[in-house]
Amino acid sequence: MCGIIGYVGEREALCVLLGGLRRLEYRGYDSAGVALQEKGRIVVVRKVGKIGVLEQELAGKTFTSRCGIGHTRWATHGVPADHNAHPHTDCRKTLALVHNGIIENYRALRERLLAEGHRFLSETDSEVVAHLLEGDGSPLERILRTLPLLEGSYALCILFAEEPGVLYGVRQFSPLILGIGDGEYFLASDVPAFLEYTRKAVFLEDGEIVRVSKDGWEVFHRTGEKCSKTVFTVPWDPVSAERGGFKHFMLKEIHEQPRVFEDTIAGRVNLARGEVEFEELEDFPLDFSRVVAVACGTACHAGMLGKLYLEDFVHVPVDVEYASEFRYRDPLLDEKTLVLAISQSGETADTLRAVELAKQKGARILAVCNVLGSSLTRLADWTVYTRAGIEIGVASTKAFLAQMTVLLLFGLFWGKRKGTLPPGTMESLLEEMPTLPRKMRTLLSREEDIHVLAREFYLFKDFLYLGRGLYYPLALEGALKLKEISYIHAEGLAAGEMKHGPIALIEPDVASFVLVGQGERRLKVLGNIEEIKARRGKVIALCDEGDGEVRGKADYVVEIPKTLEVFSPLLAIVPLQLFAYYVALEKGCDVDQPRNLAKSVTVE
Ligand code: F6R
Repeated sequence: MCGIIGYVGEREALCVLLGGLRRLEYRGYDSAGVALQEKGRIVVVRKVGKIGVLEQELAGKTFTSRCGIGHTRWATHGVPADHNAHPHTDCRKTLALVHNGIIENYRALRERLLAEGHRFLSETDSEVVAHLLEGDGSPLERILRTLPLLEGSYALCILFAEEPGVLYGVRQFSPLILGIGDGEYFLASDVPAFLEYTRKAVFLEDGEIVRVSKDGWEVFHRTGEKCSKTVFTVPWDPVSAERGGFKHFMLKEIHEQPRVFEDTIAGRVNLARGEVEFEELEDFPLDFSRVVAVACGTACHAGMLGKLYLEDFVHVPVDVEYASEFRYRDPLLDEKTLVLAISQSGETADTLRAVELAKQKGARILAVCNVLGSSLTRLADWTVYTRAGIEIGVASTKAFLAQMTVLLLFGLFWGKRKGTLPPGTMESLLEEMPTLPRKMRTLLSREEDIHVLAREFYLFKDFLYLGRGLYYPLALEGALKLKEISYIHAEGLAAGEMKHGPIALIEPDVASFVLVGQGERRLKVLGNIEEIKARRGKVIALCDEGDGEVRGKADYVVEIPKTLEVFSPLLAIVPLQLFAYYVALEKGCDVDQPRNLAKSVTVE
């Protein structure tokens, strides 16, 4: 949840650190700080507030250091305040460190250190690590001695005054990546922090320590033994970490969706052979008796849609669980269970712990993930990458589209091989699929209509999102998008559940966004609209183009181009995301950095 950056090389470290922090700000933004090795001593500057506040604090000060660390914080232990911001130092300021994660046994460690005479300046769990690192021995020896004392998750980046021009990084259950430039190196919690300088990266494993100077890098296991590592080239383009003329990353990412869809199906859909192929799944056994999808938030909504695709195409029962619930149960799993772990970041702590539990119980893991080399992909037996590119907006948009796309393709792939796909399905779907990017672009070109609609609704305090079938997960997702960026209370509901309670909420100042699907459910949802209107509730209805009946019933209508029912969520999501975006914009909310949230919940 916090962002970490470290730099060593020939450039002015401060400039690299601040640029990196700006790119990491989506991971946390309640305070930020840097530590630099300046003329033999460590200088720390840290401020509560966004990076801009830190920049103001640093303005006019000159630093020449070529080596430093930086941090942007999402508070867990200790309120957002200058003294709780990272970097933290030991009593004598012989070292400085930044931390992402939670040191679970910090209270006991702190008590012990206080009794030994250490003086603490913050209420954070992280500061204990700085104090534990004091003492005799080389910096590496001190790190090796300290790690066994720590329980919990941590990515650390550490500077020692006695070793100028050297950085240490440590990883345990929290991501840390080494970026390898030409005579310069970066340590970061996330690739975008250094993508401007290099695409070459080494992904540290749990229990590894990296020592970096401008002359090179070496990785050690926590036993002290050296490890050999593979250098990867990250397939992301540095421009993708920029806003590219859009007011917000979220809006840019919504607009990228036609391209994301094309990238995600590229090489996987063979129109000539009428096949869906996944080269990553060559040895995928077809005989799993059951699937359990585990994920959090938006990724879980994709899993709910995936359930409908898989049950239809593969005839395999699918349960969908919030990873945060699943991991604390004693779930019934065996080697015939496929656990489908869906995650944009591949670093969500609950999803990772759920996968570890499933592995212990003998299940096999298929990850649907967006980030190359992330922790999830290293735990999984198979990984299918969503090719959404870097997602920076805290509200997930294009990654959701890519997850839905992968799950649909996976259903077709598995169903075809298993022989459960209804005849003609593959052919008709593959015929329609290439038209979807154009239809998404049509929806994006109507953005201003959605903006106008948002102006009508941004003062509402309560929203219901209603859908059935494939549109039920979308109703949940539409509501999540609205609440997380506009702070308006919104509930996603299975429309058929209305009568069983939620209808009591309907009154003139409650808005309902009703997703009208196709087929037999359409009439049922039209009935829901009637029920809401009869109670003088306001209705925005999303329906297929040209559905005059819906127009006659709802107060406002958002149309989506006609497509096959299975694809309709891939189109309907676009206006739902745009609506949430423009409502938040009209309310003056900080769309890319919504309050209390951060991208990638790597802590529990
Ligand atoms: C909502 C959102 C979150 C994430 C969730 C899982 O817009 O972004 O609900 O979907 O935290 O994150 P990943 O997919 O990285 O595991």
